Amino acid sequence: MAIASKSIALTIIFLLVTCVSSQRETKFLNHGFLGANLLTFGSSKIHPSGLLELTNTSMRQMGQAFHGFPMALLNSNSSVSFSTSFVFAITPGPGAPGHGLAFVISPSMDFTGAFPSNYLGLFNTSNNGNSLNRILAVEFDTVQAVELNDIDDNHVGIDLNGVVSVESAPAAYFDDREAKNVSLKLASGKPIRVWIEYNATEMMLNVTLAPLDRSKPNSPLLSRRMNLSGIFSEENYIGFSGASGTVTSAHLVLGWSFSIEGKASEFDITKLPSIPDPPPPSSPPPNPPVLAKKSSNNTKIIIIFAVLGIFGLIILIFLGVFVFRRREIFTRGPRKFSYQTISSATGGFESTKLLGERNSGSFYKGQLAPTEIIAVKRVTCATRQQKTTLIAEIDAISRIRQRNLVNLLGYSSKGNEIYLVYEYVPNGSLDRFLFSNDRPVLTWSERFCIIKGIASALQYLHGEGQRPLIHGNVKASNVLLDEELNSRLGDYGQGSRHSTTGHVAPELVETGKVTRDTDVFAFGVLMMEIVCGRKAIEPTKPPEEISLVNWVLQGFKNGDLLQRCDARINKEELVAREVLLVLKTGLLCANRSAEGRPMIKKVVQYLDGIESLPRDDCFFSGV
Ligand SMILES: *[C@@H]1O[C@H](CO)[C@@H](O)[C@H](O)[C@H]1NC(C)=O
Ligand SMILES: *[C@@H]1O[C@H](CO)[C@@H](O)[C@H](O)[C@H]1NC(C)=O
Ligand SMILES: *[C@@H]1O[C@H](CO)[C@@H](O)[C@H](O)[C@H]1NC(C)=O
Ligand SMILES: *[C@@H]1O[C@H](CO)[C@@H](O)[C@H](O)[C@H]1NC(C)=O
Ligand SMILES: *[C@@H]1O[C@H](CO)[C@@H](O)[C@H](O)[C@H]1NC(C)=O
Ligand SMILES: *[C@@H]1O[C@H](CO)[C@@H](O)[C@H](O)[C@H]1NC(C)=O
Ligand SMILES: *[C@@H]1O[C@H](CO)[C@@H](O)[C@H](O)[C@H]1NC(C)=O
Repeated sequence: MAIASKSIALTIIFLLVTCVSSQRETKFLNHGFLGANLLTFGSSKIHPSGLLELTNTSMRQMGQAFHGFPMALLNSNSSVSFSTSFVFAITPGPGAPGHGLAFVISPSMDFTGAFPSNYLGLFNTSNNGNSLNRILAVEFDTVQAVELNDIDDNHVGIDLNGVVSVESAPAAYFDDREAKNVSLKLASGKPIRVWIEYNATEMMLNVTLAPLDRSKPNSPLLSRRMNLSGIFSEENYIGFSGASGTVTSAHLVLGWSFSIEGKASEFDITKLPSIPDPPPPSSPPPNPPVLAKKSSNNTKIIIIFAVLGIFGLIILIFLGVFVFRRREIFTRGPRKFSYQTISSATGGFESTKLLGERNSGSFYKGQLAPTEIIAVKRVTCATRQQKTTLIAEIDAISRIRQRNLVNLLGYSSKGNEIYLVYEYVPNGSLDRFLFSNDRPVLTWSERFCIIKGIASALQYLHGEGQRPLIHGNVKASNVLLDEELNSRLGDYGQGSRHSTTGHVAPELVETGKVTRDTDVFAFGVLMMEIVCGRKAIEPTKPPEEISLVNWVLQGFKNGDLLQRCDARINKEELVAREVLLVLKTGLLCANRSAEGRPMIKKVVQYLDGIESLPRDDCFFSGV
């Protein structure tokens, strides 16, 4: 009580002082944020040391923090020069880091409705890129979102009104003495200092960064001519936003200075808060508070180790007994859930939890922990052999992690049933969006993103992963959409295949053997389905329209490919160049002869515009 009223009194005094002293505040300098005029939102918080934490290493966090007073960055309708400098650190959670943080200038501090992960807690799929946002951001991004044109998974970008950067570069700094660029890992857990300067006369925005122990490099990493008069408003809020996704990092800011019409003050490095040690990488998230706390007391450490040692011994003995009984468990592999856990997570496979039946299994929604929602696929194996094969395949795919795949968390088995535990993907499967009217109509840009996402998932399966994996059943009902409508390809790497009319490559019908080429064929057909909003085969249509591939090919020959586009897509936001690119790539993939089809890597290059499509006549041969 006393503490509360004291802090209220302090706040009032602080506000009075600041109001009086800064009729028009033009500069500030914060070493840490204790007592700073900073407002925090979402997952942001200020540590007792003064460190600003935008997100911790939990999944799908997003947090913003803004300087409490708006800044006047417009003067008689034209922008003013400003300069800012800050020190940040990104400490990755277990596994790959994600997603990043950004310095933001925005007309408002309200980011409700924004998404975490790729959208950095600033935008969402519907307002991304909208010029009404009037937001300038400089992003420090540690994940490559192919569909958002990210260049790599460690870059700095200048963003206007959305997360697709107008300019970006791999994180690096210029070493003045050696006269060369030195690359810098953003998610190293080490402090990095940034300078962002805008000269309104020259209309140049510069972004420079360097490790904290180095002085400011002479050359900026990014330097871009921009007229920010149209972006800034009368009142601008300045601050930071950070977000995690399925991959996570703690996003931290140590200090910040800002100045209008002048250079931002330099930091006294000794006054900055220090960065807490990251948790030991090998330990699973829920247990380490004992270990993470650093104790100066040696006897304490010894006791802890002794206790741990005894624990370890007990666990080893248990494991030994276990392994003796069931040898397969000990091999490093997928997480094994007990049947009890899975059964209670799904309410005993209650019918209200049934998500649907697909690919010889039933999917149930379940809840493992308050924030951990899962999808469980229940497969009944007819033979012992089938069960053994399935478990071997689960083992093979259990270490696969990619942004556009539905990640397998583990499995459980009981009798002749196997339960595959996946992360839950909230928006359900793509076929419902495409072929029925009970979901919102996907816009063109959403469709294009979805297509690029599937392509990158397939590219990963076909080559980038530990060993090539054929999907074998690429179709709309196996593509799930997450909250941000990112595509997540599911149901990869499982034995029994159910052919789907229209997606099956001719040679697959003959040989029954799935290959990378048959995956590419199926993806080609799927691309056309996504653009045209109809199924590959629709028997009720007039004869010339029954087969989607033929119908698109006819459109191509007649030069009216654009007419094949889903009529529900708003014509104004169609990008003709992209529609043609996707349909032509689709035709190329759906070539009847396997040799005529491109590899998925090439397909990704076509879709990204890195590689141009072959000349037109190629499409005719063999489709
Ligand atoms: C992150 O913060 C949330 C909310 O404050 C908390 O529930 C969660 O346990 C934290 N996660 C970690 C890894 O510290
Ligand atoms: C700024 O622009 C507004 C609207 O365009 C206009 O009404 C106003 O007169 C302008 N102010 C100055 C100082 O040029
Ligand atoms: C995006 O955010 C805006 C508000 O910022 C909100 O109105 C809109 O519903 C959000 N869109 C989605 C798809 O969540
Ligand atoms: C360093 O990187 C910058 C920005 O990417 C580039 O413009 C410059 O040419 C590079 N300089 C050297 C010496 O490589
Ligand atoms: C931006 O960088 C360029 C190139 O180094 C330099 O000429 C210019 O003065 C810089 N502008 C600002 C505002 O720092
Ligand atoms: C902006 O650039 C102009 C012209 O190069 C220069 O005279 C001016 O001092 C610069 N302003 C700032 C704030 O750096
Ligand atoms: C900058 O943009 C503003 C508003 O969009 C415009 O009025 C002004 O003429 C532009 N300045 C230059 C030099 O292009």
